[in-house]
Amino acid sequence: MFKALLVQKDEDGKTHAAVTDLSEDRLPDGDVTVAVAYSTLNYKDGLCIGPGGGLVRTYPHVPGIDFAGTVEASEDDRYRPGDKVVLTGWRVGETHWGGYAQKARVKADWLVPLPEGLDPRRAMAVGTAGFTAMLAIMALEDHGLTPDQGPVLVTGASGGVGSVAVAILSNLGYEVAAVTGRPETGDYLTSLGASRIVPRDELAETVKRPLEGETWAGCIDAVGGAMLARVLGQMKHSASVAAVGLAGGSSLPATVIPFLLRGVNLLGIDSVMQPFDKRQRAWARIASDLPMDKLDSMIVTAGLGDLPKLGRDILKGQVQGRIVVDVNA
Ligand SMILES: NC(=O)c1ccc[n+]([C@@H]2O[C@H](COP(=O)([O-])OP(=O)(O)OC[C@H]3O[C@@H](n4cnc5c(N)ncnc54)[C@H](OP(=O)(O)O)[C@@H]3O)[C@@H](O)[C@H]2O)c1
Repeated sequence: MFKALLVQKDEDGKTHAAVTDLSEDRLPDGDVTVAVAYSTLNYKDGLCIGPGGGLVRTYPHVPGIDFAGTVEASEDDRYRPGDKVVLTGWRVGETHWGGYAQKARVKADWLVPLPEGLDPRRAMAVGTAGFTAMLAIMALEDHGLTPDQGPVLVTGASGGVGSVAVAILSNLGYEVAAVTGRPETGDYLTSLGASRIVPRDELAETVKRPLEGETWAGCIDAVGGAMLARVLGQMKHSASVAAVGLAGGSSLPATVIPFLLRGVNLLGIDSVMQPFDKRQRAWARIASDLPMDKLDSMIVTAGLGDLPKLGRDILKGQVQGRIVVDVNA
């Protein structure tokens, strides 16, 4: 038997999440069985613990879009019992049972060996949010961003993607401006390496003028909506915005003028369907470029039983940094 956070749907369509003992024969199909050590909490997890947000297809369901742990059994030559692995994406925790359990069974193709320098707890402190932040930084670099070009803006900065993005960018020598709607997180963001705090209100209004002063050399945007539209008009010539999230809305009330007159690039970032070599590269960069003391300062540890409340909190934008879920606590 193993423990899992099981979400059930009742006849009225309401979902209920509770820690439940399950037998191993309930695990889904897959070629590798992993003893999960840690999972984490992402915005999508908030949806999947709660009403589903259209992501979960069948119930009962075990959420948890990422996990790290040790291979227990493998039918695939690439993995042996005892190997440390990490998983993000591939709709695990959405259409496939996920990491909010002491055991998970998945396809070998979906796993990445843990890189040197990261243990399972720190890998989940990074989690999908931090992995996505790294993909966004790699995309900006691929489009020519270097530290000498000027400040890089990070929106939704005290959230998971934002916190990791701030810490890595600052460690790489970038000047980082952090947008937050929570002034009380200013010291936290400064400790991660932000050199400037931008109040959310300054960027919350929709586009009035399609072009404003050329301010940002790059941007990692976790918010979307009016803020992303506004930021596009503040980018320097030929600069890029990595669009990562929709914490502030999925619309984009923008004009095309920044693309046409300033050659601004809008780069889409998807962490779910990335090929193995890019995942491996991103995890190696995380291990080398994210200062571990800063990562440790973001961690709040939780157990499976805390997740129903935390899931509601993250949907309200009330989580700071990275929640690491110890599934054995
Ligand atoms: N593309 C991908 O593959 C991928 C992967 C992971 C996550 N995401 C998406 O990226 C976003 C961030 O994920 P996360 O895990 O970092 O979530 P998170 O921890 O909840 O962070 C989101 C942050 O956005 C800010 N925010 C919240 N509501 C807002 C609003 N109404 N207007 C403006 N800002 C708001 C808050 O930061 P402040 O309090 O500092 O303002 C919040 O902490 C989510 O939309 C998530 O779905 C996408």
